[in-house]
Order: sequence, then structure tokens, then C-alpha cells
Amino acid sequence: MEIKNNNASVKIALQGAHIYEYKRKGEEDLLWLSDISDFEEGKAIRGGIPICWPSFGMNNASLPQHGFARTSMFEHIYTKEIDVGTTQVLLRLADNASTRKLWNHKFELDVMFTISSTLKIELKTTNLDTKDFTITQALHSYFSISDIRNIKIKGLENKLYFDALQEKNFLQKGIIEINEEFDNVYQEANEEIVLEDNSKKVHLKSLGSSSVVVWNPWVEKTKRMSAMKEDDYKNFVCIETANAFEDFKLIKPKESHTLSVEIR
Ligand code: BG6
Repeated sequence: MEIKNNNASVKIALQGAHIYEYKRKGEEDLLWLSDISDFEEGKAIRGGIPICWPSFGMNNASLPQHGFARTSMFEHIYTKEIDVGTTQVLLRLADNASTRKLWNHKFELDVMFTISSTLKIELKTTNLDTKDFTITQALHSYFSISDIRNIKIKGLENKLYFDALQEKNFLQKGIIEINEEFDNVYQEANEEIVLEDNSKKVHLKSLGSSSVVVWNPWVEKTKRMSAMKEDDYKNFVCIETANAFEDFKLIKPKESHTLSVEIR
């Protein structure tokens, strides 16, 4: 679906509740989208903001990498015009025979987009079951950049992180600059994150999350990635608002947890 108001325009796929374009009025797309991405049933779109749920990474070996939400069909509940420059869209995934086969729990997963001069995404998980369940999850945001070598990421200084390539923990010294393959999971990250790309700044404010993944596949991994061209690694960085590792969420029956990010 496509939505346009006085402040911004977006494109959102019902499969995965996947936003794959966000343009503020008169500006370029803030999100990166592969121009060879498949828009095919059952395949995740490469770029935009895939929703990784109820498992992020290979956290649950019986589920596909990053869970099944990103390839599931969501229901459109409503589109509401709050004012001429703000629109809200609510999409929902409820458990069904195929989700229960993969993950035997009753749930409701609501994704609320608030589209304005900022983009807010709220991912609300409600446990409709009679037993507890745990989730890990992420808003796996691909940001469009001029060149990976130009960017700086601020707000994660002095945070502990797990380097998924070396499989070791380290302390982040200084701001982040990327000049090789990068796959770090930051813990206890509660401050605003700023992505600087020359004079452009993107601010990320999250709630309900204290873990963040910063990822870029660089040259060799890009060759092995689906729906990515050889040089594409230069054009994006992923900063993923997450509930990962120790930041997993246990949700009791009738309770909810909301993970959200506001991008400006
Ligand atoms: C990131 C992981 O979150 O997602 C990477 O840290 C992974 O290791 C990347 O390669 C992309 O995953 P996928 O399943 O979309 O190809």
C-alpha cells in the first residue's frame, strides 16, 4: 500500500508488514531497498525494515532465520488520518495453522506505523495463550547512505557488544566507523543513536529495547547474500532496534510487550 500526506510518503507491503520506502516531503528515501529484491510470496524483501519476529537471528533453531513474521501475510486493520501531515496504519498478524506448526503459541502481533515528518513503528506482541512465551525480535532497518566509508554512528560509545564474527564480547571505544564486515550486537543501549552521513543526520529513538545490531556485510558476504548486487554493501547500513540475547522478552498470558523506534 502507498500512503502520502503533507509531510511524507511511504510504501508498505502486507507481507511482513514491511515498510520499504519512507520519503519526507522533498527528500530522498531514508531507507535502502535493493533494486533486485524479489517481491515474491514467501520471500523477505531485501531492504526497508523487515520485522524479525518471534525469533531474531538463529535464536530458535526450529524457526527460520529472523522468524516467520517477515514472510507472513498481515491483515490491514485501519488507516487513520490524524491530521493533514500524520497518518497511522495498523497491521496485524494473528496465530493460524501455519504459525502454530512453526511456533505453537496463540498471539496477536500489531504493527503500528505513524507516518509524518518522523516515522514511528511500534511492534506490539500480545500473549493470547494460557502459558508464557519468550521472544527475541528486531526492526531490521536498512538505511540508505552515500557510502559506507562516509558514515559515523554515535550513541553506542562505551557499550558492551558481542562481535558475531569473532564470537567475543568487546567494549565500544569511540564512535562507530565501518571499513570491513561488521556484525555487532550492542547491549544496554538506551540512548538515542545518530547516523551521520556527511551533513545528513538520522536520529533513532527506541522504546522497549536495550539491544541494537549494527550490520554491514562488506565485500565477501555480499556475494553470498540473496537479492544484493556486488557493490550494494556501500549503499546501506543496518541499525536494528532489537530485543536480542539477554534482552529477550518473556510475555505472560494476557500481557503485551511493545518495541518501538522513532526515526527522524
Ligand atoms: C543481521 C545479522 O541481523 O541480518 C546478519 O546480524 C545477517 O548476520 C543479516 O546476515 C541478514 O539476514 P537475512 O536473513 O536477511 O539474509
